[in-house]
Amino acid sequence: MTESFKMDAPVTDRRLDDMVQGLVGAPLDRPEGPLKVTGQATYANEWQVEGMVHGVMVRAPGNSGHVVLTNRDVVAAMPGVLSVIQDDRLLRNPAQGTANEAPIQGPHHAAYMGQLIAVVVAESFEQARHAAQCLQVTLENAEVVAVDPDTAALEPQEGQALDQGDLDAAMRDAAYAVDVTYTTPSHSSAAMEPHASIASWEGEDLTLRGSYQMLKYNRNELADSLGIHPDRVRVLSPYVGGGFGSKLGLSPEAVAAAIAAREVGRPVSVALQRQQVFEATMRRSETRQRIRLAADAEGRLTGLGHDARISNLPGETFAEPVLQASHFLYSGQNRRMSMDLARLHRLCAGSVRAPGEAVGVTVLESAMDELAYKIGMDPVELRRRNIPDKDPESGKAFSSRRFREALDSGAEAFGWADRPGVKERREGEWLIGYGMASAARVNVLMESQARVSLTPQGKAVVQTDMTDIGTGTYAILGQIAGEMLGLPREDVEVVLGDTDLPPSSGSGGSWGASSSGTSVYLACQAIRRQLAERLQVSEPDLTLKDGSATFDNRTRSLVEILQGDEIVKLGHVQPGDTSQAVRQATFGAYFAEVAVHAASGETRVRRMHGSFAAGRILNAKTARSQCLGGMIFGIGMALEEELAFDPRDGHVANHNLAEYHIPVNADVPQMTVELLEERDDWANPMQAKGIGELGICGAAAAIVNAIHNATGVRVRDYPATLDKVIAGM
Ligand code: MOS
Repeated sequence: MTESFKMDAPVTDRRLDDMVQGLVGAPLDRPEGPLKVTGQATYANEWQVEGMVHGVMVRAPGNSGHVVLTNRDVVAAMPGVLSVIQDDRLLRNPAQGTANEAPIQGPHHAAYMGQLIAVVVAESFEQARHAAQCLQVTLENAEVVAVDPDTAALEPQEGQALDQGDLDAAMRDAAYAVDVTYTTPSHSSAAMEPHASIASWEGEDLTLRGSYQMLKYNRNELADSLGIHPDRVRVLSPYVGGGFGSKLGLSPEAVAAAIAAREVGRPVSVALQRQQVFEATMRRSETRQRIRLAADAEGRLTGLGHDARISNLPGETFAEPVLQASHFLYSGQNRRMSMDLARLHRLCAGSVRAPGEAVGVTVLESAMDELAYKIGMDPVELRRRNIPDKDPESGKAFSSRRFREALDSGAEAFGWADRPGVKERREGEWLIGYGMASAARVNVLMESQARVSLTPQGKAVVQTDMTDIGTGTYAILGQIAGEMLGLPREDVEVVLGDTDLPPSSGSGGSWGASSSGTSVYLACQAIRRQLAERLQVSEPDLTLKDGSATFDNRTRSLVEILQGDEIVKLGHVQPGDTSQAVRQATFGAYFAEVAVHAASGETRVRRMHGSFAAGRILNAKTARSQCLGGMIFGIGMALEEELAFDPRDGHVANHNLAEYHIPVNADVPQMTVELLEERDDWANPMQAKGIGELGICGAAAAIVNAIHNATGVRVRDYPATLDKVIAGM
């Protein structure tokens, strides 16, 4: 019944290459696309649950102190108001998808300004919103707390420290050396769909409908917050309007809805307002990163240093892993790395699209560009020269790595050979520059399960609690099942987003498609074996295509073979020794052309290209879209995105989409993506690696490096807004 598989050794038979249905890798459309664009897909806050009432959350007006709801009784008596709830369980921060880890800051104690500390429940949304606005919140015994990483207490992260060889000596003896410090600001996930949850109880059983990334964890988190058994909780999340990390863990409205629904005895819907999403879900930590690079006369790195400072709330365990790719991307025998965590009272820091590499590789690639110009070497050639044979710290082999090919092919596709010198090309009032950067992101396999049923009608149903956060899960899982079982795509139904289904990896860390896809692959493999058994042939000799099986020069339809039976198998993949035995990562290269206005310093990205290698590509269209999205994030990170904190109290000053600038259509030029053919036998039996976040891991550096090429200005404080560019011109 269950096909269990632990990834302890490379899988070299590459069975997907033998299949003939022609689905895996094809640029197929999303089957749920028409539902989404015609408004028929039910998003979190759109469920209509019988008897539902509404909750609106209330924020802390300061960053410390004991929370007192001064006029609670007055508000509780307002028209339509059912309850005013203050509960310390609301104070738990988003939990990164792991229960028991997030501290409760209470009792009744605010930790940052904007924290959601109460919920007002009323018959109608308007009544709840009005009452919530009338609720007066005071903070007693408030203290002065740190809100600025420059003055906050630092906690060295010992586990992140590395000291290999002698970096100081390497820097001293280097023919060329760079020692630069960059900063990157906090980012918001800024998903289009605000966080929203609807909770309803039936006796002791709780159903939560909403917008989340990793349901099996979310279920455990909610149970943990409420102090009930996870078996009592069902979570439904069939459509998710973007997450980018902010929905990995439950946000406060989910717990609030569950507590409120219990208290008022009716289903309760709680949606965060846009400002609340910015203030109280999750931020990427701001970073300060010092990079040291030592190179010999030929541009070969002899030393590499990366020292980072990031931040989070007191007690929170998440630390933006900015050093992650610096450990393996480039050679250099003398290496030193360190990370300090500043404890401060801004909203909780957590995973925001490619945690670690998004800002870590970006800064490393900015520094590499500085080194290339110092040496007077082609930036592509500098990277080529420093691709290590083995992991430069552990000595492990790379599982697969078409990094050099991505650099070369990307340069060719972009026309890199035609690049101008610094301040050399001008078109009227615009200074033209080219820049490039490498891309790198770790690859991860997570435990995942899926059930696949082959029905007597010869159609397949895939079921798992996996989510599709806009990434293409519905499309991809259907392609894998259709390929393995020889069925046209429309004969495969994919059902997701329900914790009553087998628990999956969830969507996060770029592992969703390869982990949940492998569980589908395994279930189908077991179905193939059972079909082969019925036909008394060996499974590899069975060719399945368009609903028929061909074997021994005979062809029979699946319906005929099944004779009214249904075959149901559960696929279950677990990570194993291959996660540790080799270095698994994805690689690529970005190239950008910018025009910088000579008088204003305004930067326009004119075109951008990315070449990427991430193992087997499961759907060329959705993979390309992920890369495009990542590169658009790169434009935002390079030129616009910055969560601004008031230096007095740490509150988010630009808590809306009008003032938190992300690229709009007019900011996004012609972009091209190339996906290189690759198979990674160490990753999983499909030889596919994660591609979701690769497109953002360094993209911004290509743009900021191009600004330097155009203007001669190095902006070391991201984003490179026009005031910073013009200051250098
Ligand atoms: Mo991703 S930031 O791990 O959803």
